[in-house]
Amino acid sequence: MTAEKVHLTGEKATLLATLYGRALDSLAKQPILGDPFAIHAARRLDYDLRRTRVSPTHAAVIALRAKQLDLWTAEFVAAHPEAVVLHLACGLDSRVHRLDPPPTVEWYDVDYPEVIELRERIYPGRDAYRMIAASVTDPGWLREVRGNRPALVVAEGLTMYLREQDGLDLFRRLTGHFPEGELAFDAYTRLGVRLQRFNAAVRAAGATLYWGFDDPAALERAVPGVRLVAEVGLLDVPGFDRLSRGDRVTFRLLSSVLPLRRLARLLRYRF
Ligand SMILES: C[S@@+](CC[C@H](N)C(=O)[O-])C[C@H]1O[C@@H](n2cnc3c(N)ncnc32)[C@H](O)[C@@H]1O
Repeated sequence: MTAEKVHLTGEKATLLATLYGRALDSLAKQPILGDPFAIHAARRLDYDLRRTRVSPTHAAVIALRAKQLDLWTAEFVAAHPEAVVLHLACGLDSRVHRLDPPPTVEWYDVDYPEVIELRERIYPGRDAYRMIAASVTDPGWLREVRGNRPALVVAEGLTMYLREQDGLDLFRRLTGHFPEGELAFDAYTRLGVRLQRFNAAVRAAGATLYWGFDDPAALERAVPGVRLVAEVGLLDVPGFDRLSRGDRVTFRLLSSVLPLRRLARLLRYRF
């Protein structure tokens, strides 16, 4: 098998950090997510993933975030076996393979054309599954997705790279397209965005963070019909106890400072 060359920059290159994080977690003694597809994908790339500057601690954070979004996705799919899943900013994440939904679920992985082109060379196709090559902020691609079923929109590591107006317009288009569903994603606070120069992986990729919001209820006000049903911090994700003792102590200490605890969190809304 040939190694795949990687020519990604800016926010597109950040998918290398999250992929590497999941691969490192999977190779750890006590994985949190345990994603063998990430190891396979990482090995297919002709790229030294250590350049992403992801440490074992950051890898654990990436795995916790993925774990919670997997749990919410699995719950939605179990409750709605005829669902549509829109996995926005999929990067090289193997969520559809990890969760392996039944073919009654229509699953779409969406990312920029350069990313999808690489993804197609690494991951096999499957029934009821399509990749869409587009910017999520382009209003056109959603027309390719049937709008008559309940939908779960899952987006990991996306919102912070969008401008606020683009993000809100996207959420309004999505909630207007489907009869009902959920939005599950991670979001930074405004302080989290301001502190981006301390985010080694974002800096290594040459990416810029734009959108953070402090009050999750702000989205309820900005996007008609949307209701917050859960806000989860990393300490609350099942699997947190598998972090090394040192990491657990550090996270608990940081979390005792409220603005730091909420720096990045996982949000689940219903519409
Ligand atoms: C931090 S990576 C996360 C990738 C994947 N969700 C994961 O966890 O591995 C950010 C991803 O967002 C994608 N992205 C950022 N802005 C986007 C946009 N406007 N349209 C589509 N994808 C976008 C990038 O291409 C990249 O794949």
